[in-house]
Amino acid sequence: MSNYDSHKIYEIGFIGAGNMAQAIGLAFVKKGICKAENILVSAPSENNKKPWRDVGVAVTSDNNAVFCCSKIVILATKPQYFQKVVSGLFTKTIGLPLNILISIMAGITLSTLHEMFDLDPSSLFKVMPNTPSLIGQGFSVIAHMDNADSKKIFENLPTVKYLMGAVGGVEVIPESLMNAAGAVSGSGPAYAFLIIEALADGAVKQGIPRDLAVRLAASAIAGGSLMVLETGKHTGQLKDMVTSAGGSTIAALHALERGGVRSAMMDAIEAATNRWEKMGEKK
Ligand SMILES: NC(=O)c1ccc[n+]([C@@H]2O[C@H](COP(=O)([O-])OP(=O)(O)OC[C@H]3O[C@@H](n4cnc5c(N)ncnc54)[C@H](OP(=O)(O)O)[C@@H]3O)[C@@H](O)[C@H]2O)c1
Repeated sequence: MSNYDSHKIYEIGFIGAGNMAQAIGLAFVKKGICKAENILVSAPSENNKKPWRDVGVAVTSDNNAVFCCSKIVILATKPQYFQKVVSGLFTKTIGLPLNILISIMAGITLSTLHEMFDLDPSSLFKVMPNTPSLIGQGFSVIAHMDNADSKKIFENLPTVKYLMGAVGGVEVIPESLMNAAGAVSGSGPAYAFLIIEALADGAVKQGIPRDLAVRLAASAIAGGSLMVLETGKHTGQLKDMVTSAGGSTIAALHALERGGVRSAMMDAIEAATNRWEKMGEKK
């Protein structure tokens, strides 16, 4: 059931109301970036609308209501629905309030967006957030079209950075690096989960109860990550700080190197980058 005002211009509209849209949109409300009453969200079913309604965001099942009544539109459906969603939109944008279109859909290129939407290249942004955005600890990489007018990009880009900053860190990168960034940042949380699980398994084998083993492993990874981000020190220097001569840590590091961990990680990034590239070609 819709509760939007068809005569109103909304500040931000989401097409797609699921996990990532909620992480971003509800953070806008929570952090005072945009009032709930100035956000409009569309999705075909009621599956994901309650959390939006609960905070006072307007909802509809009409994607065109969002597209035609919002100044900033964020496309947040699954990539496989992209063609279906776009083919149902009035993609002629003359006279619409729309001035920034952000796609968070993995694998949809800026040139595809440009082909589909009658918008100035400086209005189009591709953003790749990651799952920790769900807890406000994400990281989003942002790309814009190479041929966009730099003066107009200068006007629009700060808005996009400000919005995505609601769920974590942001960095602007060329679109050509988006797949590699996806391989490390988008897929990265899965690697962290696997590493934590494996470390915890090792601790369980040494007799530590599972619950404590998982907390110890996750805290070590989180703490190590924060030390990298907050001290700005080289990872090698930080590693050396915990590696005493003839000690247990160097013995463990030797075992990891023997197991090819470093090379396996690099292979993982290569495999994921190639896969992201293939997914982009299919669209
Ligand atoms: N989750 C992540 O960590 C992550 C990270 C980076 C990028 N992304 C990107 O974020 C996008 C959304 O992912 P998600 O995890 O949030 O997916 P999700 O939870 O499955 O949400 C998808 C949303 O799209 C809606 N939808 C489906 N068909 C639609 C249509 N025809 N018109 C309008 N809305 C439609 C769904 O509607 P219903 O509510 O009715 O089911 C749902 O609200 C994806 O493109 C993904 O690549 C996700």
